[in-house]
Amino acid sequence: MKEVKVSIFGFGTVGRALVEIVSENPEVVGVKIKVESITDRSGTVWGDFDPLEVKEVKENAGRISALGDYEVYSFKPKELIEEVKPDILVDVSSWDGAFSMYEVALKERVSVVTSNKPPIAEHYDKLRELAEESKAGVYFESTVMAGTPIIGLLRENLLGENIEEILAVLNASTTFILTRMESGKSFEEAFEEAKSLGVLEEDPSKDIDGIDAFYKAKILHWVAYGEPPEKTERVGIREVEDAKNVRLVARVSKGEISVKPRKLEENSPLLVSGVYNAAIIRTNNLGELVLKGKGGGGRVTASGVFTDIVKAALKFPSPR
Ligand SMILES: NC(=O)c1ccc[n+]([C@@H]2O[C@H](COP(=O)([O-])OP(=O)(O)OC[C@H]3O[C@@H](n4cnc5c(N)ncnc54)[C@H](OP(=O)(O)O)[C@@H]3O)[C@@H](O)[C@H]2O)c1
Repeated sequence: MKEVKVSIFGFGTVGRALVEIVSENPEVVGVKIKVESITDRSGTVWGDFDPLEVKEVKENAGRISALGDYEVYSFKPKELIEEVKPDILVDVSSWDGAFSMYEVALKERVSVVTSNKPPIAEHYDKLRELAEESKAGVYFESTVMAGTPIIGLLRENLLGENIEEILAVLNASTTFILTRMESGKSFEEAFEEAKSLGVLEEDPSKDIDGIDAFYKAKILHWVAYGEPPEKTERVGIREVEDAKNVRLVARVSKGEISVKPRKLEENSPLLVSGVYNAAIIRTNNLGELVLKGKGGGGRVTASGVFTDIVKAALKFPSPR
């Protein structure tokens, strides 16, 4: 049995769901997963501790530093890697600047698993280079469509195909607002409802102005073509007046990405509702593939992270 030591960085919705999944499946396909440390903004718990107990304290007191029974360290991200020496760094934080931590990890031959979009969208080429040098890997299934495996499809199963085009609905918050508008609400009313239900990101502009979907489209472009797009376009949903059959659609083709509201055919697989995301992938030999699944939620996102941990432990596929 191969044991891997995992540092969980970030202990919000996804981090806590991940701890549940690891506790339910401590061993999978010959890999034993040991949670070696957990970090939130208040500190790091490290060593021999019960992850479920840490989860309970976090849920009750709001911070890891409230733990009474275990020592809590205030490591800087670099110190975390150097002191804890995990096999795998799992970034389930909302820290936009996490790339600097991945750099340290990869240089120390620590593989990185992440659900955090900006570091991958902005620094994929550098991360790929560092991963090649160190023979550690970078895994990021849950950055796009959460645990619904579009990254695995593109990065592994469709490696030999030419990806001609991807059309996808990748942001459930805008879908929520647009479907409310379809049933008669104004944009402002639907926006306020989404805000009160906690459906929107802390900075709502990330959803409404298509920033979140744009990061995801950029990640898909990196994975499909190995290079950044030359031409980009981003239009949010603020100006939508008639929302009937409209969704915020990302279109990715070689050299180009666009994110904008599009009116869809009545029977389009992209006409999703609720937390569902959907993607149509067109390739040279296969024609059209359709992938639909939940695009968010703690367990759904943590599921992709968990599979990535197993892949990183097995070094599957070989890092590139
Ligand atoms: N939730 C989803 O459905 C979903 C789907 C796909 C991808 N994601 C991505 O997955 C990541 C986690 O999502 P989430 O929903 O779990 O977010 P969340 O509930 O807001 O949790 C974020 C966690 O990150 C921690 N954090 C942020 N900056 C930090 C820093 N500088 N140092 C240490 N800890 C830091 C926060 O610490 P405190 O608790 O101390 O504030 C918190 O525990 C995000 O990048 C998100 O975009 C989420």
